[in-house]
Amino acid sequence: MAKFRIRGSQPLQGEIEVSGSKNAALPILAAALLSESPSTIHNVPDLLDVRTMLMVLESLGVKVERIGGRSYTIYPGFLKLIEPPYELIRKMRASFLVTGPLLSRFGRAQVPLPGGCAIGSRPIDLHLKGFSHLGVEVSMRSGYIEGWARELHGGEVYLDFPSVGATENVMMLAATIPEETVIANAAREPEVVDLAHFLSLMGAEIEGAGTDTIVVRGSKHLKGCEYRIMNDRIEAGTFCVASAITRGKVTVKGVDYAFLGSILTKLEEIGVRIEKLEEDKIFVAMEGRPKATNIKTMPYPGFPTDMQAQFMALLCLADGVSVITETVFESRFAHVGELERMGAKVQVEGRSAVVVGVEKLTGTEVTATDLRAGAALVLAALAAEGITEVNGVTHVDRGYERLEEKLASLGASIERISD
Ligand code: UD1
Repeated sequence: MAKFRIRGSQPLQGEIEVSGSKNAALPILAAALLSESPSTIHNVPDLLDVRTMLMVLESLGVKVERIGGRSYTIYPGFLKLIEPPYELIRKMRASFLVTGPLLSRFGRAQVPLPGGCAIGSRPIDLHLKGFSHLGVEVSMRSGYIEGWARELHGGEVYLDFPSVGATENVMMLAATIPEETVIANAAREPEVVDLAHFLSLMGAEIEGAGTDTIVVRGSKHLKGCEYRIMNDRIEAGTFCVASAITRGKVTVKGVDYAFLGSILTKLEEIGVRIEKLEEDKIFVAMEGRPKATNIKTMPYPGFPTDMQAQFMALLCLADGVSVITETVFESRFAHVGELERMGAKVQVEGRSAVVVGVEKLTGTEVTATDLRAGAALVLAALAAEGITEVNGVTHVDRGYERLEEKLASLGASIERISD
């Protein structure tokens, strides 16, 4: 398995551009299945999870054509199968997002239970509950979810937790039902709003995306469309932390300032200087040691769980004690043991981690076990004294486009070593 070799302690400098959003691209690629006519989607990031989703589409018979660096045309007229293969679905939880579109096109779907990052049990009960409120009969057999609908209808779906994936799956199914569906306690993430824009362009009527109540009035005649995916706010946040942790001066380009609210607020509390330069550019600079702060992950607009590990890496070097509480996923502290190998002092108590800042981290060999844990280890390595080897780079490749090339363009000493 490939690894990164990183020589730390070099302040990053320069300008870096953010790629398209992974978490917007995955549901939008699945949503392209909702019509029979093709959709062209631009700004699709070139990363492992996207490739997996494209393979899922192809496994169902759909033709996928790459029409340029980051643009794809999806031909859903070729869709003929209702059962994506287990080898693909187990690789990535988000592949379960094809279930809503399959149910909508065929009234049937047979989808293996998803896998994904090792960050808690991550059930799909809310997706299934949502489907059943719209007329789908759901059963589980030998590790497969089987959904079947004689007649789909609108309805009211209350989500016990504002799950991003469940909100998206239910929105997609509702988008082809010519009645009203109300999703209450919906996820408010910007990626949900991006999906809503895409579905609207296809011909569905959607109100309230970005609030906790989404109203969908679907149409049986959705049409393919052309769409540009939003940029990745988590990748943007990761570059901001990269600048801060190396005491660098980095301009991050291609950001939507509004979506970075909680991330930038926390960086400022930590002592990072943030300047908004132009509409889509921010300058992130850090001098001296970070200050300790407390963080609690929450659904959007709260602090994103997908930035928790990266901030922990930064707070490991803070002057003082920080408490990080993870409320979204039940076990998302796999990075702690690895950060400790680099000299961090962290104590996990249930859903909270107490981080006692140290003056320096030291390079060693560490292993990423999930995507954001991998990002955190790369960040820690950029700041550490000496050389760090980060194993398990495949996890990082799932969600970051050419991370090592982008960081190297800012002056980081990082190379990929393949077996
Ligand atoms: C999405 C993001 C992921 C992010 C997460 C939370 C994508 C492709 N992935 O994942 O990067 O970390 O949102 O912001 O967009 N839950 C249930 N039952 C369900 C569904 C979820 O109990 O049916 C629980 C999960 O176990 C978890 C919490 O709800 O504890 C949040 O999960 P959810 O918002 O669904 O995350 P994903 O959509 O999987």
